[in-house]
Amino acid sequence: MAKLEVSNGGNSAVSEGKPPPLPSPRRNSKFLQANMRILVTGGAGFIGSHLVDKLLEKETNEVIVVDNYFTGSKENLKKWVEHPRFELIRHDVTEPLLVEVDRIYHLACPASPIFYKYNPVKTIKTNVIGTMNILGLAKRVGARVLLTSTSEVYGDPLQHPQTEEYWGNVNPIGVRSCYDEGKRVAETLMFDYHRQHGIEIRIARIFNTYGPRMNIDDGRVVSNFIAQAIRGESLTIQAPGTQTRSFCYVSDMVDGLIKLMEGEVIGPINIGNPDEFTVLDLAKKVKDLMNPKVELEIVGNTPDDPRKRKPDITKAKQILGWTPKISLLEGLPLMEEDFRRRIGLNKN
Ligand SMILES: NC(=O)c1ccc[n+]([C@@H]2O[C@H](COP(=O)([O-])OP(=O)(O)OC[C@H]3O[C@@H](n4cnc5c(N)ncnc54)[C@H](O)[C@@H]3O)[C@@H](O)[C@H]2O)c1
Repeated sequence: MAKLEVSNGGNSAVSEGKPPPLPSPRRNSKFLQANMRILVTGGAGFIGSHLVDKLLEKETNEVIVVDNYFTGSKENLKKWVEHPRFELIRHDVTEPLLVEVDRIYHLACPASPIFYKYNPVKTIKTNVIGTMNILGLAKRVGARVLLTSTSEVYGDPLQHPQTEEYWGNVNPIGVRSCYDEGKRVAETLMFDYHRQHGIEIRIARIFNTYGPRMNIDDGRVVSNFIAQAIRGESLTIQAPGTQTRSFCYVSDMVDGLIKLMEGEVIGPINIGNPDEFTVLDLAKKVKDLMNPKVELEIVGNTPDDPRKRKPDITKAKQILGWTPKISLLEGLPLMEEDFRRRIGLNKN
């Protein structure tokens, strides 16, 4: 039986897994124009649509997006509609799906607290049943599947910065648990399908990512501050403001995801920018860059908000040869431009 090197969160166990199912012969075809057919679940969302842009730059890739448009939008993909190497399907991943593909980037899941708390039962179904359906598909067609997990699996971390070996400090019954625990189960399912059925898996633990096409007013801290600054409203900082976050620009994130998918290591691997800022620092930067006239206002916080968040990206650097390139000061103006266009307020 084939031995598969497994990095299961630091234990580096060697599993007696089955060899993976045979992939489609298309994957190695020299004659088809496109020999890699890639499924992106949640591809109409923020990170997903940037990933689709990048994947379609390569002439030998075909991309199929499935999305239920809960938080995503066709608008994000409009430049690809009618493109011969692109297909868009309205589909909810909690229902089974059968498509012939070689790679699956599994992103489908609401990522912002406003949306995942709106329907927590659906969020956990998306993470659990959705991931099982996608793994079932991968098993059937021999596809390699990458899960976009999250730094939220570390909960309110007792280790700083967070390495992949850290098992986390998560409240299993809190209002954020549908997302945090949902992603933890999704990771478990990935490893169980890998060990039991030999599925080729990759797990990325994504830290806060920002950039153009983020939902305006979705409650995430960067989009909130930028929308408020553009509209001339006070920047509302959740108390105490000293909580830290690390922000990765979306093009860096997409490069990291593709490197992980095409590399040899299954993960989990942290992908994020380790430059750490307090939420107050971020508010000040947005104010200085976008609208020095706005006020900063401290407001109440939500339960279980992590106090610190910073990835240790040693593995991503060493194993994937990946480091983020875009600093916060370079990325914020790119996002401002997109938000101004969508909100319809120019800089005067
Ligand atoms: N943006 C971040 O900072 C961040 C951080 C950590 C992890 N992630 C993960 O990355 C992925 C993408 O996040 P994003 O920021 O692009 O969020 P997003 O909300 O913009 O994208 C998620 C997409 O999934 C779709 N979706 C949701 N439920 C679905 C379902 N049941 N069936 C089909 N489609 C469904 C949505 O309509 C949307 O298009 C998510 O899995 C998220 O958990 C993101």
